[in-house]
Amino acid sequence: MEKRTQLYEGKAKKIFATDKPDYFIVEYKDDATAGNGAKRGSIAGKGEINNRVTNHLMRLLEKEGVPTHYVKELSPIETLVKVVKIIPLEVIVRNIAAGSLAKRLGLPEGAALKKTVLEYCYKDDALGDPMVNNYHIAAMGWAGEDELAVIAGYSFTINTILSNYLKDLGIVLIDFKLEFGKTPSGAIILADEISPDTCRFWDSKTGEKLDKDRFRRDMGGVEEAYHEVLKRLIGA
Ligand code: TMP
Repeated sequence: MEKRTQLYEGKAKKIFATDKPDYFIVEYKDDATAGNGAKRGSIAGKGEINNRVTNHLMRLLEKEGVPTHYVKELSPIETLVKVVKIIPLEVIVRNIAAGSLAKRLGLPEGAALKKTVLEYCYKDDALGDPMVNNYHIAAMGWAGEDELAVIAGYSFTINTILSNYLKDLGIVLIDFKLEFGKTPSGAIILADEISPDTCRFWDSKTGEKLDKDRFRRDMGGVEEAYHEVLKRLIGA
């Protein structure tokens, strides 16, 4: 597959066209931002770790019956993916209170939730990715009601698969963000990434944070945490 024009450059990834109309190439960067771009930096080795962690988890999800955009890892930082039109929603799944939920509801981080929480945010940096609900999504036509039901179903299934898998590796999946896309034939599939940038991973024994919160909150040990996640998942 030949890498062609760069179509997009985001905060953590670039997307390239290929010589085949059905495939894109994703290239992961070491660049890191937080607070909607207010904080900028770089995490050495992040591009490679996020590429490898994402692909490992996407392969697991595919094996368990969840359709994803993953096709093939091309290099340590590049992956071949299926072309989709991204649905402009960040789908957030929360098992334990942390981050913006803890802040919004005045809960201590780590507080138990009686039920898994699903949230949607409209993907728009200029608006600061505002939280929206099913009615906004239908009213704006970002996804049909049937499509949103598929997205919610996949999100809960993904949560079960990943939580169980990570538990065995000594990691609690606190919360995470997913993005879905629509293929040219209209199928909804999982897209984007699943990595320490987009998940909260806490060590089961010590509660230590093994994710981007270390960067967001200037806690130090950022590279070490990303490496620890890769090591537990892949053993590398
Ligand atoms: P939050 O607590 O800041 O709302 O984040 C919830 C989860 O979603 C957390 O695992 C980090 C992830 N996330 C992203 O991947 N991208 C984002 O832009 C935001 C706000 C959160």
